[in-house]
Amino acid sequence: MNIIRRPRRNRQSAAIRDMVQETRLSVHDFIYPMFVMEGENVRSEVVSMPGVARFSKDLLLDEIGQCVDLGLRTFALFPNLPESRKDKYATESQNPDGLYLQTVRAIKDRFPDVVVMTDIAMDPYSSDGHDGIVENGQILNDETLEVLGKMAVAQAQAGADIVGPSDMMDGRVGYIRQTLDTQGFKNVSIMAYTAKYASAFYGPFRDALDSAPRFGDKKTYQMNPANSREALIEADLDLAEGADFLMVKPALAYLDIIKLLNDHYHLPIAAYNVSGEYAMIKAAAQNGWLDGERAMMESLMAMKRAGANVILTYFAKEAAGVLGA
Ligand code: PBG
Repeated sequence: MNIIRRPRRNRQSAAIRDMVQETRLSVHDFIYPMFVMEGENVRSEVVSMPGVARFSKDLLLDEIGQCVDLGLRTFALFPNLPESRKDKYATESQNPDGLYLQTVRAIKDRFPDVVVMTDIAMDPYSSDGHDGIVENGQILNDETLEVLGKMAVAQAQAGADIVGPSDMMDGRVGYIRQTLDTQGFKNVSIMAYTAKYASAFYGPFRDALDSAPRFGDKKTYQMNPANSREALIEADLDLAEGADFLMVKPALAYLDIIKLLNDHYHLPIAAYNVSGEYAMIKAAAQNGWLDGERAMMESLMAMKRAGANVILTYFAKEAAGVLGA
């Protein structure tokens, strides 16, 4: 055969394949989302997320220590709260002596070099299970911003390095930026959940936090999965309002959106590899239906190849182990 171009030549040995490899995962790419709960010496597995647990503060610190030894340096924290601490206005979210802010403080005390990313949204603290204030079945936008601004300041006071508004209210990035700046927190970064879709893939996360909406769904604030151009509008706004990172969430089913934002914006692009995406691979692997480790590394690689500079993933610890091995 007279075949001039033979792409297989560049695949013929491990050394050549490694040399021409275009994308490489690194432990520095990952942010590890973790769940904290009340109590002492408690580790409570999330049934729908095999290998992921909610930890009491003491065990969470130990777990972070193990992750730091594996090279992980950035952690995103979410609280699991008992129903008794929830109300319509997410009051507990601003309690400096509450579980969440105490834990942020404890992490920064014990690991000053670790980057702590906090979550700004009402749902873990809301008796309605929504990301905003609910009135007559509506999610109020501007009233919610005031709560989010207070949360941002309380988290910054506790030592947060990055705040992550995951609520999808209009104008929140600008409002939070302005509030942080006027309170003396100019150097706290904002990772905007820019294109956050109303996704079925958040189910296991809501199990982990007992945070499912008590009525309705989140479609009046999270984006329609059918839309991509709308992501550019959200990104324009977040850029103009002062975001330091733009995030796409979920990740695996939204690689086109990651690519779109990477093509159009010069801020770092984050991808949130969400709970349901994690659960799918774990469940299939537990059944012996696919090789879990390879599926994990391949999907993380795909997010980076699509243009994610930062990946929030429940696989962070496991993948760090694989990369370090
Ligand atoms: C809500 C929030 C959600 C996640 C992070 N913050 C879920 C939701 O919108 O109900 C989901 C993360 C995941 O599924 O891993 N503020």
